[in-house]
Amino acid sequence: MKETINVFDYEQTILKALPQGILLNTKEEKFNSMVIGWGALGIAWNLPVFSVLVRENRYTKARLDRTGEFTVSIPINGPSGKIVKVCGSLSGRRVDKVAEAGLTLEEPRTNGVPGVAEYPLTLECKILYSQWLDPAGLPEELRAAMYPQDVSGSDPGVNRDPHTAYIAQVVDAYIIK
Ligand SMILES: Cc1cc2nc3c(=O)[nH]c(=O)nc-3n(C[C@H](O)[C@H](O)[C@H](O)COP(=O)(O)O)c2cc1C
Repeated sequence: MKETINVFDYEQTILKALPQGILLNTKEEKFNSMVIGWGALGIAWNLPVFSVLVRENRYTKARLDRTGEFTVSIPINGPSGKIVKVCGSLSGRRVDKVAEAGLTLEEPRTNGVPGVAEYPLTLECKILYSQWLDPAGLPEELRAAMYPQDVSGSDPGVNRDPHTAYIAQVVDAYIIK
């Protein structure tokens, strides 16, 4: 069952959950979920929006570009260590994270991307705008810390790649009960 909410009533819950990681879900032929620690709830073009920043090397990145949609899943009673470990350090290119992390998928209502019952606060989103963020535009200290170049770019945990920002309309919001 889904309890419809006003997403702005949950702003604090979302912001407090972000640093430990929430889930950014995508679906093509298979479902995949990656942990994000950066995100923003707000208003743009008079619409409720949720923005995420995704690095080039993530499996999730091309899936967002192809499908134009995602669902965000947020814990209400604290994060699960297992979910954070599996979805935040393994790539969906190589593993089935649903099986690996023991995720229970909940059918979506408005877009095509399921939520995750273990992280019940759910935002279904449709991408309105995406923009590659040039690290050269950042202050030097931040660029060096966030985009270290002395590592291989292929590992899922590696942070050398630039981000793309995705601003998405929150088209549905609810709590999975
Ligand atoms: C707490 C935490 C926060 C993270 N935040 C982000 C983020 O905001 N953007 C990003 O691109 N990667 C972030 N990551 C890394 C991805 O979750 C990780 O690379 C993941 O394995 C990518 O999965 P995928 O290749 O299946 O898309 C974070 C990881 C953790 C543990």
